[in-house]
Amino acid sequence: MIYFDQAASSFPKPLEVTEAMVKVMNECGANPGRGGHALARQAATYIDQTRMKAASIFGCSDPKKALFYHNATVALNQAIKGLQWQKGDHIIATAFEHNSIRRPLEHIKNKYGVRVTYLKWRGSKTAFTQDVAQAIQPETKLIAMTHASNVTGTLMPLTEIMELAKRNHILTLVDASQTAGHLSINMKAQGIDMLAFPGHKGLLGPQGTGMLLVEGDIELEPIHHGGTGSFSESPNQPEQWPEKLESGTLNTPGIAGLYEAFCIYEQRKDENVPRETILAKQLYQGLTKIAGVACYGPDENEQRMPIVAFNVANVDSQEIAMILDSHYNIAVRAGLHCSPLTHEVLETTNQGIVRASLSIYNTEKEVTSFLEAIAEITAAYSEF
Ligand SMILES: Cc1ncc(COP(=O)(O)O)c(C=O)c1O
Repeated sequence: MIYFDQAASSFPKPLEVTEAMVKVMNECGANPGRGGHALARQAATYIDQTRMKAASIFGCSDPKKALFYHNATVALNQAIKGLQWQKGDHIIATAFEHNSIRRPLEHIKNKYGVRVTYLKWRGSKTAFTQDVAQAIQPETKLIAMTHASNVTGTLMPLTEIMELAKRNHILTLVDASQTAGHLSINMKAQGIDMLAFPGHKGLLGPQGTGMLLVEGDIELEPIHHGGTGSFSESPNQPEQWPEKLESGTLNTPGIAGLYEAFCIYEQRKDENVPRETILAKQLYQGLTKIAGVACYGPDENEQRMPIVAFNVANVDSQEIAMILDSHYNIAVRAGLHCSPLTHEVLETTNQGIVRASLSIYNTEKEVTSFLEAIAEITAAYSEF
């Protein structure tokens, strides 16, 4: 099978990730931070080392502020709902947002009377930066934005927007779901206040892992309360991080797998052009040459993640995905990809979009086979 649905969850995973998870399951099934016995202490070391590794890779000053959740969605919810909101507060986001940002934003909008501006992408970094600058108001408290669109792969001007936010004393939350593991991100250097990402996409870690990293003194109220293994005598949630923001037993096998994924990522992190980006370029260029195929997103490869979004004539994207699956054994994603505003802007709400997304394990041969399949499908439809 050709697996081109890496932006949903990457597959396969490095062997080291799987082995670490099995090892923990077989040898260290105790509860981390809940008891002083040797096995509980050993389980806790898996958690601590992963926290430290995450903080070091993503430039977060305090590993205690590297928090574990079970996916990016929970991390984003904690960041957005954890801030103190008042009626009239203003937030800037983009029309590219995944529902994992948009729905928590809509929730606080309805609950507190917060106002949210979703900025459309006008095709260039400069135009977008200008739009953000113009959207800033005295009440703007947060810029919450995806680092790259999960539909088109379009990369946002992160550095420029973070600088703008800093100059205007606005907090920032970056959804790195489509960039963590593909691009170098450094919170301190880039001025990011809160960074959320899943472990199971570009980082090649297991499902059931996600993180929120917080830089500096940001007050966050927990969205969950409960057992933390510490300060058990108190009826209140502890004030100490990470316990304050991590209730309940952590996913030790998943976090041990994530640690291995981080170590592997560290080795390829400084590559100038990641391998999967090179393949995505070939895929994009190949698709643009097939008459009847429309591609979305930026033309220049440097402006996109390894995601190629396209449609075949006016055929429903789900139909193309189904043919690829059933006739060619190729996995892609179709439809709206949990990002309805993106489709409003692209005018693809009815048709949806076919999304092919790549990882370091995909090959040039797979790209060639994929292009042949799309050429065949397009030719078949053109006969109707
Ligand atoms: C941009 C973006 N944000 C958030 C998410 C949610 O990630 P998770 O499924 O790990 O919660 C996704 C998943 O596709 C995404 O692409």
